This record gives sequence, structure tokens and C-alpha cells, in this order.
Amino acid sequence: MANATSDTHEPVIFDNGTTSMRDLATGEAMHSRIGPWAEAQALHIVPSGLRERLSEGSVSAPLVVWDVGLGIAANALAAIQCARAVSGGSSGAARGLTLLSFERDLSPLRQALEELARFPYLAEFEGPVGELLSSREWRSSEGGCEINWRLFEGDFFSLGLESLPKPDIIFYDFYSPKTAPHLWTYKGFERLFKLSAPGATMCTYSAATWVRSALLLAGFHVGYGPMTDAKMESTVASLSRENLARPLDQRWLDRLGRSGRPWPDDWDGEDGLKRIAEILRPF
Ligand SMILES: C[S@@+](CC[C@H](N)C(=O)[O-])C[C@H]1O[C@@H](n2cnc3c(N)ncnc32)[C@H](O)[C@@H]1O
Repeated sequence: MANATSDTHEPVIFDNGTTSMRDLATGEAMHSRIGPWAEAQALHIVPSGLRERLSEGSVSAPLVVWDVGLGIAANALAAIQCARAVSGGSSGAARGLTLLSFERDLSPLRQALEELARFPYLAEFEGPVGELLSSREWRSSEGGCEINWRLFEGDFFSLGLESLPKPDIIFYDFYSPKTAPHLWTYKGFERLFKLSAPGATMCTYSAATWVRSALLLAGFHVGYGPMTDAKMESTVASLSRENLARPLDQRWLDRLGRSGRPWPDDWDGEDGLKRIAEILRPF
């Protein structure tokens, strides 16, 4: 590969020794200070129920995961590692994994591949990531675990999402609502809601009140997601309320009523509080 140094990102080293990439334009890092791999596990792999859904031996269709914001591939590779662990586990029964990654700027991942010592989780997957970048697809059936990983380059909402396999799980991991509010809209979430497979679950690190209200207005059931050493809360949304460990409740509704920023930019606020109360109160 020629010059793999990114013009848009630079490495940032956290106190615990892990490294992420920082966007030069906004100064925002791709990950919190716990590091890419720990964040992938805590905020995406565990709360999405990925392991459990891959273990559904009675379902023959592959599980479809949309990895929205491939970044430096921590979430995607954590999903692949999880699929291999499930298929190598005691039951041996595992669904295949169809992993669709979306990204508009591949330069940070190219740079990370050149600096494996800083990104140890990538080392084991150097071949697959290299093939994904060059061919836009990587397939594997190693150990009986069927994986099809595809890459879609471009602005996520401008891609032909409707023609793709419907997601059972979405890792929604763009830059923050503060720096990229246009990626956290009511209309965008409504589109994702309509595109999702029955029972689909979406995980995101954001716990912003207006992100949660956008998800609720779009039709999702929404719950509190796990906390980490770096974050007090995250968010899990699903088409099925049973998938939520801790659905939003009266405490959150009170918070919405007090919030200085309750709505996403593309919601005029009309009837919003009443509508959300109607969504949450029956439970
Ligand atoms: C927080 S980082 C993702 C980290 C990643 N999930 C990981 O596991 O390493 C956000 C990513 O979203 C990408 N991105 C931002 N806006 C985008 C857009 N409109 N369409 C596709 N990707 C976008 C950025 O280039 C960046 O790589």
C-alpha cells in the first residue's frame, strides 16, 4: 500500500495505553478512554444480544448486523470474534453472520493497519481487513463459522440501504450528536426503523435526551444501555420491547420534560411530549 497516513485523522493514546483515532477537523476521538476493543464489547456486543442471537440454532438464516460507522473496525471485528466463539462453543450450533459495514472515510483504518502495534485487536485480522478494503468483501467458513463481511463506502443515508439485507442488529456508531446532528435525526431513525428486521436491536453510545426522543418518535422501543468507566449511560433501542433490559420509564419522561434540548433538529416539537408519554406510559 502506498501512503496509508490519514489526512483526516491522527492516533490518540489514552491513559490505559489503548489507541484510537481522532478526527482532525473536530478533535473528536472515535472511542472513549476505555479504548476501541473494550468499548465495542461493552456498548455493542453485549447489549445487542449478539451472542444469544447467533446461538439461535433453530434459525437457519444468517444473522444480519449493520456496522454503521466502520471506523477502525473494532465493533466489526468484535462481532466476527463473537461469531467464531459461538460456533466453536460447546453447542457448536451457530447461525452464520452477514456483516455489512458502512464508512465514508477509509483512511483511518488504512493507517491503523500500518500501525498494528498501536491497534493489537487488528493484528489477528490483518488479512481479512486488507481484503475487505481491497475487494469490499471478505468471506470465511473457518471452523464451520460462515461469515460474509461486506463494505459500503459513502455517506450512509445516501447509500441504497433499501436493497440490502434487513438488519437484525445495528451498531449505530457515528461521531457524536453534538458534532454531527444530521446523522441523529428523527427521519433517519424512522428510515432505519422501517428497514429493520422484526425484533431488531440497535445500540448506540449516545444517551442524549433528544436522540432518545428521536428514536421513540421513529417507532423504536428505547431503553437505558450499559454504562462504562467513561460513560454514565448509553442507549439500546429495539423493535421488540422484550429485548430491552431497562426500558425508559417515568424517571426519563420527567427528564425529558425538564430538558433544554428535548427534540432532534427535524422535529418541530408539536405534541412531542404528549406522544412520548403515550408511548411510554402504557408500560
Ligand atoms: C465513532 S467512529 C466509528 C468507530 C467504529 N465503529 C469502530 O468500531 O472503530 C465514526 C465513524 O463514522 C464515520 N462517518 C461519519 N459520517 C459518516 C457518514 N455520513 N456516512 C458513513 N460514515 C460516516 C466516520 O468516518 C468515522 O469513521
